Amino acid sequence: MRLKDKVSIVTGAGQGIGAVYARKLAEEGAPVVVADINETKAKAVAADITAKGHEAFALKTDVSDEQSTQALARQVLDRYGHIDILINNAAVFSTIKTKPAEEISVEEWDGLMDVNLRGVFLCSKAVIPHMKAQRRGKIINISSGTAFNGKPYYIHYVTSKAGIIGFTRALASELGEYNIHVNCVTPGYTKTEIPRGTTTPEQLKAIANNTCLKRIGVPEDLAGVIVFLASSESDFMTGQTINVDGGDNFH
Ligand SMILES: NC(=O)c1ccc[n+]([C@@H]2O[C@H](COP(=O)([O-])OP(=O)(O)OC[C@H]3O[C@@H](n4cnc5c(N)ncnc54)[C@H](O)[C@@H]3O)[C@@H](O)[C@H]2O)c1
Repeated sequence: MRLKDKVSIVTGAGQGIGAVYARKLAEEGAPVVVADINETKAKAVAADITAKGHEAFALKTDVSDEQSTQALARQVLDRYGHIDILINNAAVFSTIKTKPAEEISVEEWDGLMDVNLRGVFLCSKAVIPHMKAQRRGKIINISSGTAFNGKPYYIHYVTSKAGIIGFTRALASELGEYNIHVNCVTPGYTKTEIPRGTTTPEQLKAIANNTCLKRIGVPEDLAGVIVFLASSESDFMTGQTINVDGGDNFH
């Protein structure tokens, strides 16, 4: 129970890796807000967590929309009176169709950036005033190992994930004096229940082979680092990027 009563928001927690973060934080005692644009899926994840005896509720949220992110923070504060942890996990990811850079339309580029970068900014912006006032908070941003290895054919995605590393460093510099920690995690390829077309079976084999541990990651492989960064165990760490990929990239 390392996160007992630490009110946590996990964006994009309706499926995939975010759902596992939400479950893991709840198991550690955190009341968890499952924030996702897909309300049906968010409700299912929250119901599953509460059925196991933990505290969670779903809030339909579009992280790219400021009214929605402000409403998210307001509703969480109305319900619990505080926000301790924000996991900026929502992204346009599993729906991406890979293609050469010159074939990505401006609409695709902007649509992805609206979620992957503006979303991280807007969710952080919504909780910062409250975290500043309570002089405590943990913001954890989810980037990607693709920012290190420059994986081709989804340059908008890789660019957005590289941006999150700079965002993390700058925000950590701004908020440190308020005892607000801002850190970043770069997962490697992580297999979830959602099928996706960004990696061919051959590439997947090559990724597994390139890791020191010779296997592909699963969401549970990431959850321990998220709990660590959300807990007081990481209280002298901020502005950092932790790479969790079985030793695919070295960072
Ligand atoms: N799975 C991997 O291999 C991998 C690797 C590196 C990084 N990541 C990162 O981890 C995070 C989770 O990955 P995943 O595989 O679970 O992705 P996913 O595509 O399966 O899930 C993304 C979630 O975000 C939600 N979402 C999308 N747009 C939204 C919006 N505007 N507002 C609110 N929610 C929105 C979706 O509904 C979905 O539930 C992402 O940030 C991704 O970039 C994943």
